[in-house]
Amino acid sequence: MSDGIIFSPFRLKGFTLKNRIGVAPMTRMSSPGDSIPRQDVLDFLIRRAKNGAAIVYTEAIVTDYESAQGYPGQARLVTQRQIEAWRRVVRAIQKEGSMAIMQMFHCGRMAWPDINPANRALAPSAITPKQINPMTKEPYPVPDIMTQFDIDHVIVGFVETARGAIEAGFDGIEIHGAHGYLINNFLSSYANERTDSYGGSVENRFRFAHEVIQAVKKVMPEDRLLTFRISNWGVADMEVSLFNSKDEYQEIIKLLAKEPIDAISVSTYRYKDNAFGTDQNMAQITREVTDLPLMICGQIYDRDSAEDALKHADIVLSAKSLLLNPDWVKDVRSKKQLPLYTSEEANIAYTDEPLP
Ligand SMILES: Cc1cc2nc3c(=O)[nH]c(=O)nc-3n(C[C@H](O)[C@H](O)[C@H](O)COP(=O)(O)O)c2cc1C
Repeated sequence: MSDGIIFSPFRLKGFTLKNRIGVAPMTRMSSPGDSIPRQDVLDFLIRRAKNGAAIVYTEAIVTDYESAQGYPGQARLVTQRQIEAWRRVVRAIQKEGSMAIMQMFHCGRMAWPDINPANRALAPSAITPKQINPMTKEPYPVPDIMTQFDIDHVIVGFVETARGAIEAGFDGIEIHGAHGYLINNFLSSYANERTDSYGGSVENRFRFAHEVIQAVKKVMPEDRLLTFRISNWGVADMEVSLFNSKDEYQEIIKLLAKEPIDAISVSTYRYKDNAFGTDQNMAQITREVTDLPLMICGQIYDRDSAEDALKHADIVLSAKSLLLNPDWVKDVRSKKQLPLYTSEEANIAYTDEPLP
């Protein structure tokens, strides 16, 4: 097959993907006021479906109005107006034969209380990241240690946002368990020093993720897809390995694989880097303990890197390449030589300049 594995279809639950390429979730901070992204930001997602991506993820949608928002101008999906705005986007993506998946998140200790109406920062333990917040240029606030009430309340936010996504017609929902945000804070002993049933052992640290997944799954029709994103790195203190060893990470993946999820999305800084002092990359280490469909992301920027990444995963997600190059899917197909974009170049995502 001359088009290669990357342009071969893939069966993902009840969906048949036309290729193995997806647009990774990308926060755009374009939704001040009504928490609905700017029109050109929504149109960008539709255009990436038109240009050939088989999956289009939304930006990380904030799960509640109290403590979940970590960046200014993030989107929400709980009011009828927000639902109507997304419904149009979802339909247009589906019209292109692509899947629309809503990613949702709570920022946890990566908090900016001033932009949350309740002015709170919540996390499993009262520990801040070491680095300062690059946006406020100040240390992150010391979070309140979540009580059982907080935990139950935050889960309701995930459920309500999932209901919004179902109402808007999304094909799938992703629970963001990566990058040092709330769910990841519970999973990692770097942020979780609790001594109750949500801390200590891997099983206990996994409990919050389990409760979120179970609660969200209950409100999802059987035909929709549920994915979970995980990473061993966070956007603050980026050099820190959030899991202590390959064994610990694999324990978490094994627990995840017992949950009613349909795919795992592994986010890496660079997909091909070996992890945990082994000679295996994150996709290999994940694949070793689960047969669930696997998505991989991190510096997949041309045909060679995409094909190489697919040796140990089923789907490749790209953020910066699909952000900056509208023809990326076509260019990968034609094996064009392509650049590896930098984070500085990707900062255009946060300007009000419409992207091609
Ligand atoms: C502008 C921008 C916004 C991002 N926002 C999110 C987000 O909302 N949720 C998420 O899980 N990852 C987010 N990421 C991370 C990407 O999904 C991806 O994991 C990372 O950029 C590595 O992929 P790449 O090398 O293809 O850019 C963002 C990345 C960029 C560049």
